[in-house]
Amino acid sequence: MRIDIFTLFPEMFDGPFSQSIVKRARDKGIVSLFIHNFRDYATDKHKTVDDYSYGGGPGMVLKPEPLFDAVEAIRREHGGEEELVSTVLLSPQGRLFRQKTALELARKEHLVLICGHYEGVDERVREHLVSDELSIGDYVLSGGEIAAMVVVDAVVRVLPGALGSAESAIDESHAAGLLEYPQYTRPPVFRGWSVPEVLLSGNHQEILRWRRRESLRRTREMRPDLIKEAILSQEEVSSLEAVGGLGSAESMVE
Ligand SMILES: C[S@@+](CC[C@H](N)C(=O)[O-])C[C@H]1O[C@@H](n2cnc3c(N)ncnc32)[C@H](O)[C@@H]1O
Repeated sequence: MRIDIFTLFPEMFDGPFSQSIVKRARDKGIVSLFIHNFRDYATDKHKTVDDYSYGGGPGMVLKPEPLFDAVEAIRREHGGEEELVSTVLLSPQGRLFRQKTALELARKEHLVLICGHYEGVDERVREHLVSDELSIGDYVLSGGEIAAMVVVDAVVRVLPGALGSAESAIDESHAAGLLEYPQYTRPPVFRGWSVPEVLLSGNHQEILRWRRRESLRRTREMRPDLIKEAILSQEEVSSLEAVGGLGSAESMVE
């Protein structure tokens, strides 16, 4: 996969993209990351990228010309089939970025991420340059850079080969619509707090059952909104209904 990021603050990406799983994926050639400063595409002598908002109001708006020129230059060089390329504006107004969005983007060959700043970007960027808008949550960041890092990290770790055998994207929180079960490691007793007996039993069937139960319990407690979309067995639906854990919406039954 190729990822191009357009930003006014390229140095912000140095740390996150040169560590851990993203670094390893880059080293293995699973992902190629390119960071561009779209100020380089401004044509006036002051390299202007922002201007006042028509109609008045505080703050500056990012101009359309440098962004269109920057993104179109990359698209010309690295064009691909339209359905395999996604041009994304990071925006607090976008659709919410979730694990399933990461899986959806991981199927693309080329991602182009645009980081806004100041008051945001000229509306024509939204309307005519991007194919998608993503928000990483219902809060406002100063710029799209941290949001782009979040998107890249979540997408890269689900690319085939990015995780080592000791790590797994299959069993994690959100992978199957539920939160992950509790995890323990040695020692078996720490400050008097014991690891649940079943995990030390060696009985794999029992361990699987315990983990599934805990996963459901934890999701019901922490994120009841997720339960409504999870794929559950009839038995699980009945036991959740018995404790009032399904709410009004219906879950999918396996
Ligand atoms: C200060 S924000 C602009 C907010 C804009 N005035 C509004 O009210 O919608 C500047 C930039 O940060 C990025 N940003 C802020 N919050 C974000 C979020 N929750 N998810 C993704 N990007 C975000 C966007 O790229 C945005 O253009």
